[in-house]
Amino acid sequence: MEQDIRQILIETDELQKRIKELGQEITRDYKGKDLVVICVLKGAVMFMSDLCKNIDLPLSIDFMAVSSYGSSTQSSGVVRILKDLDSSIEDKDVLIVEDIIDTGLTLSYLVENLKSRGPKSVKLCTLLNKPERRKTDVKVDYIGFTIPDEFVVGYGLDFNEKYRNLPYICVLKEEVYK
Ligand code: XMP
Ligand code: MG
Repeated sequence: MEQDIRQILIETDELQKRIKELGQEITRDYKGKDLVVICVLKGAVMFMSDLCKNIDLPLSIDFMAVSSYGSSTQSSGVVRILKDLDSSIEDKDVLIVEDIIDTGLTLSYLVENLKSRGPKSVKLCTLLNKPERRKTDVKVDYIGFTIPDEFVVGYGLDFNEKYRNLPYICVLKEEVYK
């Protein structure tokens, strides 16, 4: 896989250091609350796992899988739920954990959908933020890193389902996408 990589944007130790800080911040903010961490599959799975290890509170974890209609690198804003939560979030303090917010269309749909289920609160945590391509006003409460408008892979993020297992965030060589 190394031969496909053009540039590493965020190294492993940088990722882990920032995730530790986010975990500490979330620990302070959610003290005494009934926290449910919702992982958006599949991209956020590595991030959610490392983040939760740094949250020093009782919490539960649930998973949701959504797909946005469109090509593999472009979001369309039309979202389909492929896997719904296992448990009710009524009266819970919900923290949605995402890998990346790009146009924001997927997340704004998800936030509205979850808010309609009667939770006490809904907040959003993303590892990566690509503000340049935002198409909707979605409030992000916790951001790991803000990155330029490039398609990135690694640490959960894929291109055609590959590269998720790289322990860092990187950009692939142009010929790989063809
Ligand atoms: P929107 O545009 O709705 O998109 O905010 C969010 C989803 O789009 C995918 N996405 C990416 N996936 N590298 C990826 O591997 C990227 O650079 C990238 N940009 C957007 C991702 O699935 C995210 O949940
Ligand atoms: Mg993806």
